[in-house]
Amino acid sequence: MSYEQARASKNYSSLLYETFNPLKACNVFILQDFSKLKDKAQKQAILNRLKDYFRIRKQLSLHYEIAKILEAQLREYTFYDYGEGYFYQSCRPIHITGFRNTEARIAGMQLEKYVTGKTVLDIGTNAGFLALEVAPLCRIIEGFDSNLYLIQVANCVKSFLKCDNAKFWAGTFEDFNHEPPYEVVLSFTNHSTYDHNTKQSIEDYFQKCHRYVSDGGYLLFESHLPNYESKEQLKCVLECLQKYFAIDTSYVLTRGTQGDKGRTFAVCRKR
Ligand SMILES: C[S@@+](CC[C@H](N)C(=O)[O-])C[C@H]1O[C@@H](n2cnc3c(N)ncnc32)[C@H](O)[C@@H]1O
Repeated sequence: MSYEQARASKNYSSLLYETFNPLKACNVFILQDFSKLKDKAQKQAILNRLKDYFRIRKQLSLHYEIAKILEAQLREYTFYDYGEGYFYQSCRPIHITGFRNTEARIAGMQLEKYVTGKTVLDIGTNAGFLALEVAPLCRIIEGFDSNLYLIQVANCVKSFLKCDNAKFWAGTFEDFNHEPPYEVVLSFTNHSTYDHNTKQSIEDYFQKCHRYVSDGGYLLFESHLPNYESKEQLKCVLECLQKYFAIDTSYVLTRGTQGDKGRTFAVCRKR
């Protein structure tokens, strides 16, 4: 008998069809009917599917929660969100693909080397997915963003992941006035923004970064994509940065998605 014939002759229990809907699958009727099922293989299939759902059951309500925030953002947020109503950053622990690959960025920048055991500030943290990914390495990581909806997502995911050393709040860098300074400040594609929410000049931006990096600390810089920031523009940006920081290392990133590759990364020591 061929595999197709075997499948065609198989009389699947209606219970199997019931389990196609993850939200219905875990209810008590399924479990009662399951105990009456005789076919061993079908029982195993259903059991395995329920096990899969059980593993991600907490994520189903998390995803529902963050989908509601994205929906509100779509209705109420009048600025560009960088994620096209979805997500700019990926978050592997909760299966969000995003447009940019958080793991590839972290590996390409060798962030582990710079943030381990440090107090870190992430300017324009977006949904906080990159900050949350490196949080287990850091002593403390704090991030803020002008987009309140993304900060709500960051705080939902932070609670879900039980990431106690991460802190997120909504606000602009222009209004930022925390003390004391941080050992490492992340400036990832934030020295200028396309949403018209950055009001300060590039010079003011790096001067302010300088104020918030502790003596002996680092600013980690990532540029925009070359088609948004030409070689000449990037040269001007880096000239301005170097008034306040000395560049220890700088290279072009080659890992990740089309949105990740081709950006310049620089490790900058406070002058
Ligand atoms: C291009 S995204 C970069 C996000 C993140 N830094 C990353 O690299 O994954 C720019 C982020 O900056 C935020 N933003 C724009 N203007 C800001 C400002 N003045 N202060 C703080 N955040 C700002 C946006 O909401 C957005 O999340």
